[in-house]
Amino acid sequence: MRIVRDRRQVTALCREWRRRDGQKLAFVPTMGNLHAGHLALVRYAREHGDRVLVSVFVNPLQFDRPEDLSRYPRTLEADAKLLAESGVDALFCPEASEMYPEHEPVPARVVVSGLSQTLEGDSRPGHFDGVATVVAKLFNLVQPDLAVFGEKDYQQLLLIQGMVASLNFPVLVDGVPTVRESDGLALSSRNGQLSAAARVRAPELYRCLRDTVEACLLEPDQWPTIFPELLATAETRLRDAGFRPDYLSIRRADDLGEPRAGDRDLILLAAAWLDGVRLIDNLRLRVGKIAAPA
Ligand code: PAF
Repeated sequence: MRIVRDRRQVTALCREWRRRDGQKLAFVPTMGNLHAGHLALVRYAREHGDRVLVSVFVNPLQFDRPEDLSRYPRTLEADAKLLAESGVDALFCPEASEMYPEHEPVPARVVVSGLSQTLEGDSRPGHFDGVATVVAKLFNLVQPDLAVFGEKDYQQLLLIQGMVASLNFPVLVDGVPTVRESDGLALSSRNGQLSAAARVRAPELYRCLRDTVEACLLEPDQWPTIFPELLATAETRLRDAGFRPDYLSIRRADDLGEPRAGDRDLILLAAAWLDGVRLIDNLRLRVGKIAAPA
């Protein structure tokens, strides 16, 4: 596996792959501290591309709290080993000065209006501008045919798809289902920050989403009238379990708009603090589909 730190070199490498062999390039952008969820993205990329490039870059522009940025786990050596074992062709791991060579403030940013101002965007002002900006920069450097993101960050996935459609990036953006621990907790780099006691309580977030989805699916004809009461019950349950919910919301799956009567493809999204760690998760809510495993 090639390890590249220089932005010009990564562009040259990807261009060479395309020119020499006309190969389809699949790209997986990450912030490192890789786990089985990331490896599922890599597997998908390998199945759908001839060459796979993964980036590991902890993007300062998307952190709304400095302590969150400094606490973010950095495990590049272990990440590189995992990626090499997973058959990745190249790892791009630039320094911040390589990605943002200009002095602050960063002169050009990408803002995806609407989607970046609700839910996660509401709770973390500026976060999605940072995400969209770094992903646009990475797409320009790599020029992938396919880019792969996790459905755990569902709003991020929609935001990137919206950016790509609106700015005509010639890349297909695919989502891969969330990978969970056996107790249901969605895999996340932040799980490692949970204390042992909090780790035991953490799967309650998933269980609460699953039970809420199941309750909604019992009465699809009553959508969306029944949602406020079911969401209030879920919020109380989370508080009782020691969480501090940021939001718990049912939205339309295609654009995260408020659900209307007759909508049949929705998603329940949640963010909640547990013991100083912010966890997010979501479950799809589709009539005629079992959204959650038993
Ligand atoms: O999901 C992430 O890890 C990050 O938000 C991303 C997409 C790599 C951009 O920094």
